[in-house]
Amino acid sequence: MTTRVALVTGGTGGIGTAICKKLADQGHKVATNYRSEEKAKAWQAQMKADGYDFALVKGDVTSPDEAEAMVREVEKTLGPIDILVNNAGITRDGTFHKMSAAQWGDVINTNLNSVFNVTRPVIEGMRGRKWGRIIQISSINGLKGQYGQANYAAAKAGMHGFTISLARENAKLGITVNTVSPGYVATDMVMAVPEEVRAKIAADIPTGRLGKPEEIAYAVAFLVDEQAAWITGSNLDINGGHHMGW
Ligand code: CAA
Repeated sequence: MTTRVALVTGGTGGIGTAICKKLADQGHKVATNYRSEEKAKAWQAQMKADGYDFALVKGDVTSPDEAEAMVREVEKTLGPIDILVNNAGITRDGTFHKMSAAQWGDVINTNLNSVFNVTRPVIEGMRGRKWGRIIQISSINGLKGQYGQANYAAAKAGMHGFTISLARENAKLGITVNTVSPGYVATDMVMAVPEEVRAKIAADIPTGRLGKPEEIAYAVAFLVDEQAAWITGSNLDINGGHHMGW
């Protein structure tokens, strides 16, 4: 297989870490960004102990300038970016009638505006080389909505709108653009949901359990594969049957 350079935003988080590992297992060179140096260094040391050597670049994805600098740094260190996984995301849950502008803005900036900020400096290189894989990590809640997540669901639904437009614009250039929409996966983000609320949500999942980060990473690896060249503009739901539709 061809070794390519992958940038996974938010790679130090639960799903992000699994994606970084899976892409590395496939033979790719993987970079991720960080905002907090302390957390990132601890993560990198843990990854080294697990046998993984990931490049870490400083960069806040909510800033267009920092995102561009981060992309250039990865290109300088590892080479041109052929695989981009827009995975960075946060929650600031709250019912809408109590939601502050900061709760709204932080989520839209981190989960949606980041997708512009990071993809914009990457796309021209992909178009020039006529090969690319861009994947948005969205959410079941962008699809079905969730009590307390007007901000998050709006951002996550927006990510797929971005996917289907970019897919059209770049289809003839060997670049595929897809969305992966995880359901409730056992990560710190989901574990932060109050226990009684989480128990109710888990009871609604037909498989009877939360997802594993590796089960999301597997889908990313599938979409990144050379053989997935005709899959573009699609959304892959991975949620244990929690939300089914077509
Ligand atoms: N459906 C219907 N009613 C609900 C509800 C739901 N899912 N969740 C809460 N309520 C009701 C409560 O039963 C309560 O009703 P009563 O007043 O009649 O008793 C009322 O809403 C409470 O409303 P408040 O505005 O006072 O709520 P709150 O301030 O206590 O907290 C909340 C609301 C922050 C939304 C809290 O319920 C919560 O954290 N919910 C979880 C939201 C969630 O699922 N987030 C996902 C995070 S993980 C993630 O995002 C990853 C991913 O992609 C899947």
